Amino acid sequence: MKGLSSLKCVACGASFPLAEARTACLACGSLLDVVSDLHAFGRTGSAWQDLFDRRRAAPHSEASRPFETSGVWRFREHVLPDLPESGIVSKPEGATRLYAGGALGEELSLARLFLKHEGENPTLSFKDRGMTVGVSWARACGFQTVACASTGDTSAALAAYAAAVPGMRAVVLLPQGKITDEQLSQALACGATTLGLDTDFDGCMRLVAELTAARPVFLLNSKNAVRIEGQKTIGWEAVQDLGWRVPDWIVVPVGNAGNLSAIGKGLREWLDLGVIGKKPRLAGIQASAADPFYQSYRKGFSERVTRVADETAASAIRIGAPVSHPKAEREIRFFDGVVESVTETELLDAFALANRHGFAICPNSAVALAGAAKLRQAGAIKKDDLVVVVATAHALKFSGTMSRYHRGGGRLANPPRLLPATLDAILAALG
Ligand code: F0G
Repeated sequence: MKGLSSLKCVACGASFPLAEARTACLACGSLLDVVSDLHAFGRTGSAWQDLFDRRRAAPHSEASRPFETSGVWRFREHVLPDLPESGIVSKPEGATRLYAGGALGEELSLARLFLKHEGENPTLSFKDRGMTVGVSWARACGFQTVACASTGDTSAALAAYAAAVPGMRAVVLLPQGKITDEQLSQALACGATTLGLDTDFDGCMRLVAELTAARPVFLLNSKNAVRIEGQKTIGWEAVQDLGWRVPDWIVVPVGNAGNLSAIGKGLREWLDLGVIGKKPRLAGIQASAADPFYQSYRKGFSERVTRVADETAASAIRIGAPVSHPKAEREIRFFDGVVESVTETELLDAFALANRHGFAICPNSAVALAGAAKLRQAGAIKKDDLVVVVATAHALKFSGTMSRYHRGGGRLANPPRLLPATLDAILAALG
């Protein structure tokens, strides 16, 4: 169906056609939301559930188009109804597993812990869910160049999806020396124009906004309302994975605050459509080295705090001025949410613990896990609450961090040992 969506300013309410591909309000410069008339389809909540279940169960036939197995486009009417199916650029993405926490949950006293493993996406992070939508829309609007600032994962996803569109150029602005080699190599491998800048993420963000204002280049950071429409599907898919049960908590690591905003927006839309009947609570977790959203929350959101973000093992969320703060604040308020922060020791131990239990999650994901454990200890999360922690990327994008942890003195360190090449030495080492 066409003409169902428009862009609406979150501050002044001004409205713009979706096809104008704006990433800020023309009147006041604030963030925009995609607003879609999802009631126009005339379906009930349970009819939507049936449709999405049928799509998920459909056999993966040779004839199928990639998007038919995508965990984003499974929900296509609710993602970007104005985009024709022929315009979809999909790898496909989403359809990630929801793992029961098992022994990890028991260790953290979270009896009903689940991990939504977004590291199982094509470029190993949740960014693919947004980028499939953003790049599809860029192509539909005739853009030949797309750009982003990034702490590493957005750039990998942008590069990979742009590479799937003949003639599309990706330009990525990266804080020099502040992302992992694995993330950097993804952008290089996909042929993106990769620019390392002598600044931090927030500096790259300011420059990419200037670049996209000066040239016909589509900005694909989470500031772009169309892109984060795809990320709404993380929460939706988790609910569907749970047999349409709404978790008590969804716990998300927060950097630029786009993902928390997206998940909240999606769940509000499903409440409105009757696809779900209750609200989960949302928890946004930051690393204490980069905690402006947490500091704002502590002040009851009376002030929008920004800071210079310090070094953290959770390098993908090393952000001092979260662009999507107003949207994330809106979702925290609506979902009776909380914001927490965790120390380097807490996040690194959670990283090691989750990986020891065989969940290959990244340090940024571990921020959310450590935050869930902290909220449990404080009694905010109850032992039997159904908790979904969103693991945002794969451990192997951060293998240097893992290796340093195990070679260092961390609580769960498991350092490798160098031995002479003899059976005696091996037997001695085994004790
Ligand atoms: N986890 C990972 C692995 C990330 O890469 C990011 C953001 C986040 C969590 C936080 O999400 O910004 O929506 O609050 N990475 C961006 C990037 C900034 O450039 O890859 P957010």
